[in-house]
Amino acid sequence: PADPTSAPARFYVTTPIYYVNDRPHIGHVYTTTLADVAARYHRLLGVETFFLTGVDEHAAKVAEAAAALGLTPQQCADRFAAAFEETFTRLKMTHNDFIRTSQERHKARVGKYVAALLRSGDVYLGEYEGWYDAGQEEYVTESKAKEHDFKSPINGKPLVRKSEKNYFFRLSAYQKPLLDFYAKHPKFVRPEARLNEVVARVREGLNDVPMSRTGSAGWGIPMPGDEAHTIYVWIDALFNYLTTVDTAGAGQESDGPTPEGTENRRKLWPTDVHLIAKDILWFHAVIWPAVLMALAKCPGYAWVQLPGGVYAHSFWIAEGQKMSKSLGNFVDIDKLDGYVSRFGLDALRYFLATAGPLGTTDSDFAEARFIDVYNADLANALGNSFSRVSNMTARYFDGKVPEKGPHVPASDTHTLTAEHAVARAMAAYESLDFAAAAAAGMDLVRAVDSYIEQTQPFKLAKDPANLPQVGTILYHCAEALRIASLILWPIIPHKVEELWSRLGCTGYAPALADRGRGAFLTWAKWGQLKPGAPVTKGDPLFPRYQA
Ligand code: MSP
Repeated sequence: PADPTSAPARFYVTTPIYYVNDRPHIGHVYTTTLADVAARYHRLLGVETFFLTGVDEHAAKVAEAAAALGLTPQQCADRFAAAFEETFTRLKMTHNDFIRTSQERHKARVGKYVAALLRSGDVYLGEYEGWYDAGQEEYVTESKAKEHDFKSPINGKPLVRKSEKNYFFRLSAYQKPLLDFYAKHPKFVRPEARLNEVVARVREGLNDVPMSRTGSAGWGIPMPGDEAHTIYVWIDALFNYLTTVDTAGAGQESDGPTPEGTENRRKLWPTDVHLIAKDILWFHAVIWPAVLMALAKCPGYAWVQLPGGVYAHSFWIAEGQKMSKSLGNFVDIDKLDGYVSRFGLDALRYFLATAGPLGTTDSDFAEARFIDVYNADLANALGNSFSRVSNMTARYFDGKVPEKGPHVPASDTHTLTAEHAVARAMAAYESLDFAAAAAAGMDLVRAVDSYIEQTQPFKLAKDPANLPQVGTILYHCAEALRIASLILWPIIPHKVEELWSRLGCTGYAPALADRGRGAFLTWAKWGQLKPGAPVTKGDPLFPRYQA
C-alpha cells in the first residue's frame, strides 16, 4: 500500500443517503465523518476524489413524519434535507455533492434504469405475501421472522402479514452470479466477518424482491408505464450512487437537468467504497450488485461496472445503552454540537474516527471515554509535544527552526520511526482502519517525547557550546511533528492546519483548501522543514480537559 504506483487515479466514496423524517443524529454524523476522512486521505495523496452524501426522501416514514407535523411529504423532506445539509456544512464535511432523491436529475435517471430493467425481463409483475417490517420497509424471510418471534429484528415492533401485487426484481436468478462475484472479490464486503454473514445467507437461497409499491399516495418516483405503482424506495435510494455520476456532459441533457457546471462524471464510476452500517448491509451487498449486474446487461449500460466494495460498520450505543426514541437517549445533533463547543470539532472527529464501531462490535459514546481519548492523545500527546518543542525553539533559537547541526545519537532511529509511521498510516488508511492510522501518527508524536527524554536538550542547552546539538534535536522534533501532522490531517484537519501555520509550513493548507489535492508522498519525506522558518507557540492546540 505504501507503493506510490498503487495509488488509484481517482476515488469515489459514498455514505448512505439518510431518511428525512427527523434531524441528524450521531449515526449519520459518524458515517459521514468516516467518508470525509477517507476522502481527505485520498485528496492528501493527490488522488482525484468524489465524496457523495445526501438524503433519501421517498420513504413511508417520511410521509408519516410529515403527517404528524402537519406538512406535505415534500415540505417535510425539504425541512430535514436542509437540516442535514446545514449540519454537514457546519461540521465542515467536504462532500462534493449532496443528492436529494426528489431532485429531477435523480428521478429522471431512475425512471430510465427501471424502464431498461423492465425490458430486460429481470423485472416482472407478480404477487407476494410475507412478513413485513414496516420500520425498515422490507420483507423478512419466514425463518428470520420465526427466529425473532414475529417481531422486527431491528426495532422489535410486530411484523405484519402483508400481500401485494408488485413489480419484482428477479433476485433469485442472481444467487450464483453473486456467489461467484464474492469468491472473486473477497474484499467486496468488509469487514471480513460481514462477508461471511452475507455469503451464508445468499447460499440459503434468494427471494425475488419488490421493485414497486402501491398505495404510497404518489410519494415516490412513478413506475415507468404504470403510474399506479411507485418505485420501491430502496431501489430508488440505491440508484443515487449511480444517478449522481451518470452525467455524460454536454449533449446528454435529455437525461434530465444536471447541476450547474457538472462535467462528465461517468469516469468516476464505479464507487470505490460504499460506507454504511450493518443495518443496511443486505441491500448494499446483495440487492445492489445484483441490480447493477442486471442493468449492465441492458443496451447502453455496459459501462456500469460493479462497485469496489461495501464497508459495513457497527453501531454506536449511548452511555452503555442502545439508543432509542422511547428511551430518549439519542446522541442527537444538539448533543454533538455540545461536544464541539466544549472540545472542538476536531476532537469530535478524532473520537468518532478512532473510538468508533468500525469493526464488528458496537461502540459506546460515553462522555468519560471521550474525555480519556481527548486527554491522552490530543492534549497530552500531540498538544503537549508541540508546546514543548515550540517553547524550546522560542527559548534557544529565537522562535526559528534551527539548522540541523552535528549528529546526535538516537536521531537515526528517530528518522526511521518517522518513515515507518508513514508506511503504517498509509496501509491503515487504505484498509479504512482509522484507529490504526491515528495510532501511527500518535506513536510518532510520542516518539518525539521519548527522543526528548533520551537526548535532554533542556540540559544540554545550559552550556551554550552545545547549542548546535540542541538545534539538531529540535530540528528532528519539529520535523517528526510535521510528518505526524500530515498523517493526522485527514482526521483532525483544522488543528493540523493551525499547527502547520505555527511551524511555518505554508504550502500544504493552500494546496488542500476547498477540496484541493496534496502530495503526501513528497511532503512526508524526511528533511523538508526549512531552517529559519518561524515557529509560533500560541495557545495550547488542545487544552487539557479537567472535569
Ligand atoms: N435511507 C436509508 C439508506 C439508503 S442508502 C441507499 C437509511 N437511512 S437512515 O437514515 O436510517 O440511515 C442509516 C445509516 O445511518 C446507517 O447505515 C449508518 O450509516 C447510520 N446509523 C444510524 N444509526 C447508527 C448508529 N446507532 N451507529 C452508527 N451508525 C448508524 O437507512
